[in-house]
Amino acid sequence: MPDAAPDRMSSLSLSPSEAVGGPVHGGYSLVQVASGAWSVRSHAEGETFHPVVGPAAEAEALYVRQMRLPERAAGVPDEFVVWDVGLGAAANVIAVIRAMGDVEARLRVESFDHTGEPLRFARSEAARLGYLEGFEGPVAELLERRDVSFQRGGCRVRWRFHEADFPTWLSSGAGDVPAPEAILFDAFSPARNPAMWTLGVFRGLRGRVGARPATLATYSRSTLLRVTLLMAGFHVGVGHATGEKEETTVASSDPAMAGRLLDEAWLARAMRSTSAEPLDQPVYRQRPLSDATRGGLERHPQFARGG
Ligand SMILES: C[S@@+](CC[C@H](N)C(=O)[O-])C[C@H]1O[C@@H](n2cnc3c(N)ncnc32)[C@H](O)[C@@H]1O
Repeated sequence: MPDAAPDRMSSLSLSPSEAVGGPVHGGYSLVQVASGAWSVRSHAEGETFHPVVGPAAEAEALYVRQMRLPERAAGVPDEFVVWDVGLGAAANVIAVIRAMGDVEARLRVESFDHTGEPLRFARSEAARLGYLEGFEGPVAELLERRDVSFQRGGCRVRWRFHEADFPTWLSSGAGDVPAPEAILFDAFSPARNPAMWTLGVFRGLRGRVGARPATLATYSRSTLLRVTLLMAGFHVGVGHATGEKEETTVASSDPAMAGRLLDEAWLARAMRSTSAEPLDQPVYRQRPLSDATRGGLERHPQFARGG
């Protein structure tokens, strides 16, 4: 079964529903997406950060509501730790912090990106992007000091920014960063950014989660990504629609937290797919499942008889 290669728009041209919103600064510009919201676009990657529904709506549907972040954080006596993989223009994190303001919680955000440029660009376009309003101070301090603490409603927030190549950082031991309860996984598409989607990266994430009940959500619904998550040791479910996508993906160390789990019918389609084998190298390749991966999927507790 052919699988669409890219998950985000990977063409250098804009989709018909996007309009160029202004000059390009440092490789980024604003585009107005179908909903009327503005989103950041990377010209080097040829991808819009939050296409179709825009930054706030996508972040709320995909991460905040799907992973029930405020509800889960409110029940935790210690810090609730969120890893934000692909800080970009910080739309996802800010949606999370806004939602957390409605509950009594202690939120720890660990953001990762190999550049702070998209966030600097977003600050210069804060008026049109909208979602940065009220966060100008924390964002300025984050960019300057890489570490900021502040109060938002009932939520005490500590937010750190690790400016590094994420796969390298993860494989080198992950430093003093606490393990996550939730992971917002928002890299560019596998076709454009394969180094962020290898089996090694997701095994590294699964290893950091360990035995704790944690969730990971991402916009992709591709077979390749879902197989990769399963082979990394996650349970994997059909993620909520976001407006841009009719399905996304949610994964967890705990099968009860991964929503509607992928079933035998999905597995049968994956077995026939021409693009399902995880990336073992940071090079995008579409391949059917290898014999080793087929065996691994059949033995996965999500599918193994009695599992
Ligand atoms: C789709 S954008 C993220 C959008 C962001 N989550 C937001 O809410 O605005 C993907 C981000 O991944 C970052 N990225 C790409 N490759 C990376 C790598 N190897 N290590 C760390 N970050 C990377 C890019 O710089 C970019 O900011």
